[in-house]
Amino acid sequence: MGLRLGTAADIPAILAIQQQAPALSQWSQSLYQEIFRAGSRRIVLVVANAEVEGFLVAREIGEEWEIENIAVAVRARRCGVATALLADIMRRAYSCGACAIFLEVRESNHPARRLYEKENFTIAGRRPAYYAAPVEDAIIYRRLLG
Ligand SMILES: CC(C)(COP(=O)(O)OP(=O)(O)OC[C@H]1O[C@@H](n2cnc3c(N)ncnc32)[C@H](O)[C@@H]1OP(=O)(O)O)[C@@H](O)C(=O)NCCC(=O)NCCS
Repeated sequence: MGLRLGTAADIPAILAIQQQAPALSQWSQSLYQEIFRAGSRRIVLVVANAEVEGFLVAREIGEEWEIENIAVAVRARRCGVATALLADIMRRAYSCGACAIFLEVRESNHPARRLYEKENFTIAGRRPAYYAAPVEDAIIYRRLLG
């Protein structure tokens, strides 16, 4: 599986995958351009074979990193792409000295919640009515590293 750091050239493919995932925060092209500028505290990983199959965006926040966005193209789902992205970001975070990684997910997003639970993330909290359209709680998942 071709897993690498993303570049600005991947933005069109990332936006296309994002559009296939209505439950996801729909970030703009300009926000991704900002992320790829030097000095950003965000890391983008992509799985790319002939085309980009999936991506992950994480924010380095000291000892606790945050996964902000993760999505896989519909055609490439259930092939281990997200699992590979999670494994890689956890390795990177640990090697940079982080002790945990966390994320928020819509309560009703069962595919994503199963993925995180399979990867040994555990529920660390809940943010009531965190999401809009439709209003829904966020479940916070956290995974200790190392
Ligand atoms: C959630 C998502 C990222 C999973 O990506 P993926 O590459 O298909 O996941 P993987 O193939 O690595 O799946 C790993 C495990 O997650 C769970 N899982 C993944 N998709 C699932 C589904 N649709 N239903 C139930 N469990 C699922 C399973 O346990 C799976 O293991 P298995 O295939 O051996 O049963 C993908 O469905 C997606 O892009 N969804 C839309 C965007 C989104 O919701 N992102 C999360 C925001 S918090």
